[in-house]
Amino acid sequence: MSSKGVQKFNFRAILLKTQLYRIFWTSIYYSFLEGYMNPFLRKLSQPQIRERILREKLSEPLHMILFSLFAGIFGSFETKVYFDLVVRPHNAFCLLEAARNAHRRGYKSFTAIEFGVANGAGLINMAKIAEQVTRATGIGIELVGFDNAVGMPPCLDYRDHPELYQPHDFPMQNYEGLLAQLPPTAKLILGNVSETTAEYLKTVRPECPIGYVVLDVDYYSSSVAALKVFDGASELYLPETLMYLDDISTEFHNPWQGEYLAVNEFNEEHAMRKICPYNMLREKRLFKGATWIGQVYFLHVLDHILKSSHVNRKSVILGNPYLDLPSAG
Ligand SMILES: C[S@@+](CC[C@H](N)C(=O)[O-])C[C@H]1O[C@@H](n2cnc3c(N)ncnc32)[C@H](O)[C@@H]1O
Repeated sequence: MSSKGVQKFNFRAILLKTQLYRIFWTSIYYSFLEGYMNPFLRKLSQPQIRERILREKLSEPLHMILFSLFAGIFGSFETKVYFDLVVRPHNAFCLLEAARNAHRRGYKSFTAIEFGVANGAGLINMAKIAEQVTRATGIGIELVGFDNAVGMPPCLDYRDHPELYQPHDFPMQNYEGLLAQLPPTAKLILGNVSETTAEYLKTVRPECPIGYVVLDVDYYSSSVAALKVFDGASELYLPETLMYLDDISTEFHNPWQGEYLAVNEFNEEHAMRKICPYNMLREKRLFKGATWIGQVYFLHVLDHILKSSHVNRKSVILGNPYLDLPSAG
């Protein structure tokens, strides 16, 4: 073989290698764009998302933004939840918190419900987060979604916020596709919640109590019907069941319409079940400007067996550094 031939052969091999490298890196680049950047850029194209990022994240001191970046790249799932880096941070916080509550109370699993599913973005998000919460805590999560599939039903009167929501808004367009994205244990219950909630309640098991409920059915009348899910026996709930009220965050929501009114009436009608905001949550969060913090509530199940007696543990002793007495218990 002449030296010219060897050179030509090498040149071809190099050319082939270069092409392969180019194809490899181009596919990595495009899958990165498709997988991460496009959804991110699509989100950024929505003015309310840009406004929220500006207000909630970029208004923080520079060192917090840098910590966030570090947590985003190297942090565990729990760290990302702490830094509000998971999509729909309310679901991440509430599912993780409910799992910790369940663990503390000795449960191995709990049920998480979304009232108002529409095209399922929220429910799929819950499913993805639930998987990570289970991996982090060992607590199983069963998901249930409620929707009538055809969009908002007829509205009752001014209490349903007809100026904001109207019949047939938010129809479910791809039931099969949505079901395929959910884990096999998830249930999608179709029908008006005024008819489906009571039947569903009969299927809840005390060993997998309801621990987190997202209320996103917009209307007052639908919220009243959905809140009947809290009318079951006390052992069907975690003693403190987390809630996320989706429709209380605009300047137009008020105590005489919509979800606020439904919750207030629920509290008036139930002596031993009370819904109220999660106490001091804003003070406990790192990024205090996030809107979702004000939308996290608790159902306190006052008639729960775990609230009716003392926990069985050693007495607690308070320390006193002035007398050199240590804390114990
Ligand atoms: C705003 S959408 C839910 C959005 C969804 N949670 C998400 O994150 O994408 C409200 C949904 O509530 C449902 N809905 C409202 N009232 C209902 C009722 N009485 N029974 C069943 N579904 C109802 C509507 O069909 C609609 O899909």
